[in-house]
Formats: sequence, C-alpha cells, structure tokens
Amino acid sequence: MNFSEKIIGWYLKNKRELPWRETKDPYAIWLSEIILQQTRVTQGLDYFHRFLEAFPTIFHLAEATEDEVLKLWQGLGYYSRARNMHAAAREIVTTYGGVFPDNYSAIRSLKGVGDYTAAAIASFAFGLPYPVMDGNVIRVISRYFGIAEPCDKAEGKAQIQKALYSVFDTKHPSEFNQAIMEFGALQCIPANPTCKNCILKDSCVAIEKGMVKELPVKSSKPAVKSRFFNYLVIHDGDDTIIKQRGPGDIWQGLYEFPLIETSVAISPGELMKHPDWKYLKGKHSWKIIKIHSGIRHKLSHRILHVTFYEIAGKINRLPLGAMKIKKENLMDFAVPVLIEKYLKTNKSLLCFY
Ligand code: ADE
Repeated sequence: MNFSEKIIGWYLKNKRELPWRETKDPYAIWLSEIILQQTRVTQGLDYFHRFLEAFPTIFHLAEATEDEVLKLWQGLGYYSRARNMHAAAREIVTTYGGVFPDNYSAIRSLKGVGDYTAAAIASFAFGLPYPVMDGNVIRVISRYFGIAEPCDKAEGKAQIQKALYSVFDTKHPSEFNQAIMEFGALQCIPANPTCKNCILKDSCVAIEKGMVKELPVKSSKPAVKSRFFNYLVIHDGDDTIIKQRGPGDIWQGLYEFPLIETSVAISPGELMKHPDWKYLKGKHSWKIIKIHSGIRHKLSHRILHVTFYEIAGKINRLPLGAMKIKKENLMDFAVPVLIEKYLKTNKSLLCFY
C-alpha cells in the first residue's frame, strides 16, 4: 500500500463526522475552512451552524450589513477574515451571478482566499487536484520525510511542498486532503503522539531517527509587544458612549468604549491629566466610581494591559466618530472578546439586562 492508500484507509475508519464533510456546497466548505483557521472543531461547529442559519446562501451573506456579519463572528477573532468573506460574497454575486467559481485561479483570487483555502475548496467542493498545506499537513509531512528545515521559511516550505506533491493522490484529492489533515489532527499530534500504533511507523523518517519531538522545526517567534488600553465606561444615567474602531489596527469595525491608549501603564491621576480625558470631560465634573485594572488580554503578537474606568458624569463631547447609546443596547453591537467578557462580568453595574 502506498502513502495515500494507507492514509485514506485510516481516515475512513477514524474520521469524525463533521457537517462540512457531508456537503459539496462550496459556500459551506469555504465558511468551514475560514472558521477552522482560527478555532478548534468543537467551537467552530457552533459558529458554522449559526452563520449558515443566518446566511444560508452567498446571496444572504452578500446582502447582510458588515455589522451583522461581525456580530455573528464575535468571539472568533481575526475579524478581517469575516470582512473579507463578506466582500468576497458580494464579489461572487456581482461578478459570477452568485455562483461560486469552480476553477482554482478564480477561487484563489477571491478576497481573503489564500493558497490553503483555495486548495481546500477546489478539492472538497469540485474534486480538483490541489493539495492542502496547513499546520496539520506540515507536521505529518515534515515528520514522515524527516524535513528539518524551518517550516515557516521559504526553503523549508518548498521542501515540504515538494514532498507533499510526491505522495499526493491526484485521483482522490478530496479524500487525500481530508485524510492527511485528520491524521495530523488525531494521530500525528504536536505533543506525545502514540507512534507505536501508527500506520506509517515503518516508513516514517522521524520515528526511525528519533526526531518526532523536534519536528516540524519553527524559527523563533517575534517578541510579543505590550500595549496599554484605558477604557472610559461612562454612566450618564442610562447612556454611555461607544465608538467603532477604524482601519489599520486590530478589531477593525468592532465597537468599544472611548479608549485612551498610552505607551506605558498610567495611574488614575495621570489619566485625569491626559488631554483626551480633559477634552471628553469638558466643563462637567466626572467621578471615577470603579476601576477594573490588571486585565491582561493576549492576542497573537500583542499583549494588552487593560484598565476599565467606570465614570459617573455627564456626556459632554463625543470623541470623533463615537455615539451615545443606551447601556441596555450594548449587547447589540459587535465587540471584541475583551469587552464582551467585561460586560458579562459586570452586568449589575451596567444594568443592561
Ligand atoms: N481543519 C481545517 N479544515 C478542516 C476540515 N475540513 N475538517 C476538519 N478539520 C479541519
């Protein structure tokens, strides 16, 4: 048996039943692949069902507002992926009459669709012979072939891709791709795989050379930088202020409280001297009624050090682009997970339920 026969055989016995494996609908497959790039299958399932329920077809997604799409995506992170999907759905409607393109280069040129997603859609929905290369596949191939070049550098990637092509099954691209990804997810796992019962153990170079633990090799990660966020949660009776984040930074399109970002952590006294504080407060008196400090929120390359200041006082001026809303309506807006958690743990104070 060759590599493909072994791995597809294993897949048919061990695969998880997942809804996107029961369909050839490229829209549903596309959605599942975008969701699974940023979350695990168990959490992804829930988002997948809710999204398809809200937007059953490309037309529904294309007609939705960006706020509706972001609200459904809330909690998944990488919101640009949701915005790109939304833009691509509109592109499919205007350029292709709502029919998902069925060739690789047209799929690959959709907004937000990279090599991995294009190969996944092309193979799963249309049976086209394009191998997928995600983290699971990289691990299986680099171990099986004993490739020790860093997999996040051009040379290592090229070696892995070449090795992958050498075992790829052009007659069964969909099954091969699903099988190798599932094999990476369930058998050839990152830490402590049980190689004793592996179907590839007789021909795996990493097992033979005792390199399973070391592979795949990754070059060192960039340092995680700190940012310091001070949020002003204003209580003017039932009203508060929120603002939509603009382009060019994290959380584009999501809503948050007025933010004063500083280059270091600051004290309440320093905050009250900040020009933005003074501008927003204007001539009214503001009283800090509660401070939630020491909150750390991790993003992929950043760590946010966050303080929420609960302030009782009149809303005087609005920051540029901000709006005054009723606190009880806060949950209608798509907010970053950081703010969602804050709202959930401070329900009574905010009285928005
Ligand atoms: N991860 C990425 N794509 C996947 C898929 N189609 N099934 C299971 N896990 C995945």
